[in-house]
Amino acid sequence: MARVMFLLFISFAVTFAGDRRLRISLHAMENPIGTGLADRFLSINTTTNLTDRIRLPLRNRNNVEYFGIVSMGTPKQMFKVMLDTGSSNTWLPSSNCPRNNWACRKHRRYNSSRSSSHVKDGRNFTLFYGVGSVIGYLSKDTLHFGGAELKNLTFGEAMFQYQKVFDSVIFDGIVGLGLGQRAWVNSTPFLDLLCAQNLVEECVFSVYLRRVTGSLRGGEIMIGGTDKSRYSGSIHYVPLTEYGYWKFEISKVSVGSEKIDLAVGAILDTGTSNILIPENTFDILHEALGATTDYGITFVTCELEQLPNIKLLIAGKTFPITPMDYVKEVVLENNQKVCATRFAPINLDFWILGDVFLGRYYTVYDATEKRVGLARAVPDVATKV
Ligand SMILES: *[C@@H]1O[C@H](CO)[C@@H](O)[C@H](O)[C@H]1NC(C)=O
Ligand SMILES: *[C@@H]1O[C@H](CO)[C@@H](O)[C@H](O)[C@H]1NC(C)=O
Ligand SMILES: *[C@@H]1O[C@H](CO)[C@@H](O)[C@H](O)[C@H]1NC(C)=O
Ligand SMILES: *[C@@H]1O[C@H](CO)[C@@H](O)[C@H](O)[C@H]1NC(C)=O
Ligand SMILES: *[C@@H]1O[C@H](CO)[C@@H](O)[C@H](O)[C@H]1NC(C)=O
Repeated sequence: MARVMFLLFISFAVTFAGDRRLRISLHAMENPIGTGLADRFLSINTTTNLTDRIRLPLRNRNNVEYFGIVSMGTPKQMFKVMLDTGSSNTWLPSSNCPRNNWACRKHRRYNSSRSSSHVKDGRNFTLFYGVGSVIGYLSKDTLHFGGAELKNLTFGEAMFQYQKVFDSVIFDGIVGLGLGQRAWVNSTPFLDLLCAQNLVEECVFSVYLRRVTGSLRGGEIMIGGTDKSRYSGSIHYVPLTEYGYWKFEISKVSVGSEKIDLAVGAILDTGTSNILIPENTFDILHEALGATTDYGITFVTCELEQLPNIKLLIAGKTFPITPMDYVKEVVLENNQKVCATRFAPINLDFWILGDVFLGRYYTVYDATEKRVGLARAVPDVATKV
């Protein structure tokens, strides 16, 4: 079902398991950001006056986790959610979750008996991830975001989260921005519902991710159109090859003059931090980069100017990923500085272009025309808070 969701968590797992030092620094960051901001978030007024555009600001935690603020129910119950283009279902922790569900207890919980707009569904759900699952039951309620109201959204109330990584993330739940084919049967997911209720004129949204370390302003999702101030040049469109994921074809991947992959599928996934690559291709790429692997981490030189761009040819246009995007600096316990890539292998036959790619390229998700659009993102534009 939400296969890509598990990919997100694999990429977290890669980060956490592969690099102890990084893990510590992530956790060190977590409390100040997690607790300090929770209250500030509550006072953010996201009311906009646009009838045809809905703007949803994102927060960025260390370029690893992006999330926005939404509320569910009447009166509103507020949540931090990951807005995930790689899955189609929405869920929040349930106030009925048992005490021993630590991930649920650490996060905000939806209480249906405190919402007058809650509608019971009666079905149970299970979402599978690579190393665990989320189990609960379905409900319907009004989702509020960016000044808009989406009525009767079917979402999961999570009772059990058999997945360690949910303990440590800041977001409480997930809003799936994928298309209907990957959603629960007999339920209309977020985007389809939003368009069915005519909240926006065009059934389109765009993602601008800001990758500035240490800054909380993470960019934004604009629903109903695109924002010209966030990209340069024109938007290059490519048709979807599957109507569930935001999936399309990359005609060719090359490093220098070497072909790495041909005619391969790819999805755009805000819920994955890195770029995940089919295993065989991953090995070829790492050879081309002169990378070495140790403890599951792939190291490259820290002399970025010696590293090549990785070029993705998409519908006749080349989209490079530069060493600035794909290399991260890691300080080891002995204070030695090393450089690792932000690529990870995945046992699938398509690429998952996560935040590393989405930071460089402004992306447009067009459900009406069944296509995605790519343009060079304007770097470093802060969103208004
Ligand atoms: C949010 O902003 C709108 C428009 O400026 C204003 O009408 C509304 O009262 C504000 N809400 C809160 C909770 O501050
Ligand atoms: C919002 O729209 C209303 C009605 O069109 C208008 O009166 C008001 O001035 C607008 N508010 C802002 C903050 O633009
Ligand atoms: C949910 O809200 C109701 C009504 O306010 C309250 O009685 C109940 O204790 C809450 N449930 C939980 C599990 O917090
Ligand atoms: C849903 O799960 C609960 C708890 O496991 C169980 O008691 C209930 O019978 C299930 N409901 C349906 C409709 O399967
Ligand atoms: C939402 O569901 C309720 C109860 O099923 C129904 O009365 C209402 O018309 C629905 N609203 C919309 C906008 O679909």
